[in-house]
Amino acid sequence: MTNREPLLEVRDLSIAFRMDRKTTLDAVRNLSFCVYPGETLGILGESGCGKSVTCMSILRLLPEKTTVYGSGEILFEGQSLLDMPEKNLRKIRGREISMIFQEPMTSLNPLFTVGDQLMEIVRVHNPGISKGEAYNLALEAVTDVRIPNPERILESYPFTMSGGMLQRIMIAMAMLNKPKLLICDEPTTALDVTIQAQVLDLMNRLKAESGTSIIIVTHDLGVISEMSDRVMVMYGGRKCEEGEANEVFFYPKHPYTQGLIASHPSASLNEERLPMIPGSVPSLKDMPKGCPFNNRCPYSTELCVSGPPAEETVRESHVVCCHNWKEVTPDA
Ligand SMILES: Nc1ncnc2c1ncn2[C@@H]1O[C@H](COP(=O)(O)OP(=O)(O)OP(=O)(O)O)[C@@H](O)[C@H]1O
Ligand SMILES: [Mg+2]
Repeated sequence: MTNREPLLEVRDLSIAFRMDRKTTLDAVRNLSFCVYPGETLGILGESGCGKSVTCMSILRLLPEKTTVYGSGEILFEGQSLLDMPEKNLRKIRGREISMIFQEPMTSLNPLFTVGDQLMEIVRVHNPGISKGEAYNLALEAVTDVRIPNPERILESYPFTMSGGMLQRIMIAMAMLNKPKLLICDEPTTALDVTIQAQVLDLMNRLKAESGTSIIIVTHDLGVISEMSDRVMVMYGGRKCEEGEANEVFFYPKHPYTQGLIASHPSASLNEERLPMIPGSVPSLKDMPKGCPFNNRCPYSTELCVSGPPAEETVRESHVVCCHNWKEVTPDA
């Protein structure tokens, strides 16, 4: 996998928000990761860890006036997305890279039918296409996501549909132009468990059929382990750990990853249950110096306060950012 050229490469990315004239707060710090063709990368972390900010930055969807991109670059097939003129980026958004959000209603217009909205997306990216052709593509897209009565759905308004149905429509919309990369930010958190399983299944099927790479963001360990080839665990806007999903889940090296796994419900079936992670994610202005996890970490030492940990290789394609990882898991 590592020999392949990445589809997306995020290098040393730092993002801050301007609060007032004097203050900026860092939301993402020195973050590097790749997404390879055809793979699913899961991004895992508690609320406020910087998962959505990271995803939104890829398509430059963060508020322009208050977002400060510090260091770093984001390369998509080798082209820099951060430096690209808005005009060119618009051609990539929705065509080469699509995004699905947690709350489908934020991306659908209540005043138009689903069919109108799907056809509009087709037409924006394929100027000159006839109305009939656009309709056929929209119909194909809703049929692909296994919606019963697709013709009727195209004539319906979003508010008449259930959450699970809307999320399918979102996937249909996102896949309309067969993107190379699909970014899903908590795509199933608002759904009940059965519907969630169906939506995840659908995403996996579309990925297998079209070879689309997926970034899936969630704080649900179960969702991540079901979907991901590789995972990246984030905390305080930084990477904690990254590697093959099985490797990270069976041999977690970062105390934060270990805490997340221990506090996941299925872990309670294990005989010796580790304690929950004490405390909660601080706001950006209260983020500790050094390793952001140091004030919640049972292994914290002075080193952890002195500066952020560097990325260290555990074994091929498994990396950890923790000053004390060798002491945390002495059997490493
Ligand atoms: N536009 C903004 N202006 C100021 N601060 C912001 C902005 N967007 C996000 N933040 C802050 O950046 C931090 C990271 O937010 P982000 O939305 O990326 O978290 P997340 O990991 O996606 O959490 P969740 O699981 O709740 O979605 C939070 O402290 C949040 O309050
Ligand atoms: Mg989020």
